Amino acid sequence: MCGIFGIVTATEQPLGPILIEAARRLTYRGYDSVGAATISGAKIDLRKDTGRVDEVAAKYNLAEMSGTRGITQLRWATFGAPSQVNSQPHLDSDGDMVGAHNGNVVNNVELRKMFMEEGLVVRSQNDGESCVHAVERYIDRGLDFIEAIRRANDDLQGDYAYVIGRINDDKLYAIKKGSGLVVGIGDGFTCVSSDLPSILPLTRTIIRIQDGEIITLWADHVELRSVKDGSLIERAPEEITETMSSVQKGGYAHFMLKEIHEQPQVAREVLHMLAGSSDVQAVVDQMKNARNLYFIGCGTSYHACLAGAVYFARLAGRAVIPVIAPQFIPQYLPTVGSQDVGLFVSQSGETKDVLNALYAAEKQGMQCYGLANVIGSTLTKASICSLPLCCGYEISVPATKTFTNQIITFLYLAYRLAGRDTRELDAIPGLMEQTITLTTPQVQAITPDVNAWEDCYSLGYGTTYPMALEGALKLKEITYSHCEGMLSTEFKHGPLSAITEGFPVLFSVSPEDVPVIVSGINEVTCRGGRAIAIGQENASLRANASDLIVLPEASPEISSLLSVLPLQLLSYYMSVARGYDPDFPRNLSKTLTVD
Ligand code: M6R
Repeated sequence: MCGIFGIVTATEQPLGPILIEAARRLTYRGYDSVGAATISGAKIDLRKDTGRVDEVAAKYNLAEMSGTRGITQLRWATFGAPSQVNSQPHLDSDGDMVGAHNGNVVNNVELRKMFMEEGLVVRSQNDGESCVHAVERYIDRGLDFIEAIRRANDDLQGDYAYVIGRINDDKLYAIKKGSGLVVGIGDGFTCVSSDLPSILPLTRTIIRIQDGEIITLWADHVELRSVKDGSLIERAPEEITETMSSVQKGGYAHFMLKEIHEQPQVAREVLHMLAGSSDVQAVVDQMKNARNLYFIGCGTSYHACLAGAVYFARLAGRAVIPVIAPQFIPQYLPTVGSQDVGLFVSQSGETKDVLNALYAAEKQGMQCYGLANVIGSTLTKASICSLPLCCGYEISVPATKTFTNQIITFLYLAYRLAGRDTRELDAIPGLMEQTITLTTPQVQAITPDVNAWEDCYSLGYGTTYPMALEGALKLKEITYSHCEGMLSTEFKHGPLSAITEGFPVLFSVSPEDVPVIVSGINEVTCRGGRAIAIGQENASLRANASDLIVLPEASPEISSLLSVLPLQLLSYYMSVARGYDPDFPRNLSKTLTVD
């Protein structure tokens, strides 16, 4: 995810402060690089680098930039490492056009090769630059901007939006194809952005852009055209009346629900990043040759480590030691050395428990890699290299989208280690979408009954065991009730005594483990308990469980990932029904930088 913003004004004016503020408001979309460009007559002023908005703004004095048009971009690296040259906006070959994009141009590698063969000046690996060159080559052939963007649209594959401008012109141009884009119309200016929060402080008159639309922005009006045939599109502006806070939640009641629904999209982003990353092979090679391999994390990230260990063993025949970070030092530190590899997993990249383990392991010579969401965090800097989770900001304290992208990354690495075709994983985002749509009403239907209890269990087996633990953590974290996660077969070794009439027990079921789970279900139901199964449609589950929350058909590993989505939804709806704020549960903090 990245963020773009562009503005057109009637007269030359200081645009730097506007661009900085717009960038700040888009930082949730990307924060490893920032850039700004202003156009004034025949001059383009372009300043950009890696770092956070305030760092780059201070280092390059973005505040002093002025012009009649301005563009800013927040980057979340997918094509090309975070670096100054890969930062956006990008110039065309002769430096008289400038543009920036948000999204993924999936044929970027092929396009860059073609541009270089045609003699265009390609400066970076970034796919945003490909958008600029894709337009440039048609402008060079004498087409006007709209025609050039239409033709470029045939060449650029993927989902993206971009904004572009040229010297000695009074307009900016933008296109939306799959990525978000909104236009703002103000007094003496128009603007365009990936999202509303950067527009609303300037104006509340907006036009929502749809896929396949090209926008021309003048200072006093905008024009929409169809990319298909260039025809004019009439759309009346609308007035935004919601508060900034509800706008930031994207129409959802809470960030948690928004982030649950963002999971398919960020899954696409991480799969795309992994397919294009040169670091993946290096990490996989190290893992292959390691004496012992450790996955280390806390809380939700530890549950992802557990799942990763299951996938690595099952798919690639590679044993892994999953460790809760603070247990690493007392239990394993004396045994590790330079032949061992550790993958340190953390959404924030700042969890002290994880960093303590990392620093201690490094001292012993262990090869330490990271898997983190926050680029530029301590973990990403302290490890040899760190794979990004590509989730954008996760604001809600309960981790959701970062968990599923950790799982997807582990699955991807296991596939690579096993030499399996990773394209099988491309089905995941669509399956996640189906799961959220299918299971939301099913979950809402059982919420009042489960919510009547202050206790419940969440059980799983094999691939679903880590998901059951994660579901239990989510329930505890935001409903303040007790939920214990455990291996389903362990239940009869003690906790079964808790069962009374109606006592809820959740069973996450992978298709291959139905028989063993059905045994556990019957142990609960024959004592009057309520066994709520989460799995694929199955006659035996249907006949034995009290309720079956139905998942779409998928392989056992992918199915286990899907089973966590209804557990996230259940904890969310229970929390809201209890009158709590799931985004900010009492006593908890998103980032734990203490021992
Ligand atoms: O930032 P991290 O992934 O290192 O955080 C670790 C845990 O504090 C975190 O996963 C916590 O368990 C979540 N808030 C649970 O939803």
